[in-house]
Amino acid sequence: MNKYPPDSNFQTDGHNRLVENQQALNFHSNSLLIPIEINSQDKSVGLFVFDNLSLPVGGQKHFVDITGSPFSPELAGAKVFYGKILPSMQKNYEYALHKLADSIDRCDKSIHSDETSLWALRIADRMGLSLEQIKEIKLAAKLHDIGKAIVPKAILIKPGPLTSEEWEIIRRHPTYSATLMEPAKSLDTLRPIVQAHHEHYNGRGYPNGLSGKNIPLGARIISVADAFSTMTIRRVYRKPISIADAKKELVRCSGTQFDPQVVSIMLDILSIT
Ligand SMILES: [Fe+2]
Ligand SMILES: [Fe+2]
Repeated sequence: MNKYPPDSNFQTDGHNRLVENQQALNFHSNSLLIPIEINSQDKSVGLFVFDNLSLPVGGQKHFVDITGSPFSPELAGAKVFYGKILPSMQKNYEYALHKLADSIDRCDKSIHSDETSLWALRIADRMGLSLEQIKEIKLAAKLHDIGKAIVPKAILIKPGPLTSEEWEIIRRHPTYSATLMEPAKSLDTLRPIVQAHHEHYNGRGYPNGLSGKNIPLGARIISVADAFSTMTIRRVYRKPISIADAKKELVRCSGTQFDPQVVSIMLDILSIT
């Protein structure tokens, strides 16, 4: 019996394996394929089918194309899970989300998630936060953009200005990131941080227009780390600017986009590195 819903592109054969065809490997439904086990050669040996009806119909369609994940026909059907994630799979799922973050970096040929994570850790450490908070913020920073897996690649790497429709899709990515983290209960406390990483201190950010201290501290930290990384590393769609110019931009947006206290800590760190 086929255990996938009729509107899914996933079909099973007589052995309950995913059918190997291009249609199955492309992503055309409100589901998401995620590699859940990575072997020593860094190859996926399992797939997690994430079913989320809240994903938009017009959202990401070609997961393989977007992430560049090394899916190959022989992997399809190695192991397929559908439905609720089991507690024993939580760690694998968390690991899969790391791999998703790496895949998105590969998509625009950057190391943005690791860079953001590193700067966020340095800021949190210098602010004297607890080890627990520092670990949470570091992990949230690593995963902050995983929701971009649901944004079409053409928009993600577009060099020119985005249309208002494209912006509307981009602005959903923090919510998508938080949604993708839902199955991993160990990440529950990180989700509000990730969801708020594009909120602005003056309330003019997205997705919820939070302002000031209503934005979780972790998100205010990641916002500065994220912006600094975005400005200073090469992306396929944008040239980097100098560290001096990036510092000026942080100062210019302190109190409007960024928490002034976080900017001042970041400038401190940059002055000694
Ligand atoms: Fe983002
Ligand atoms: Fe980012």
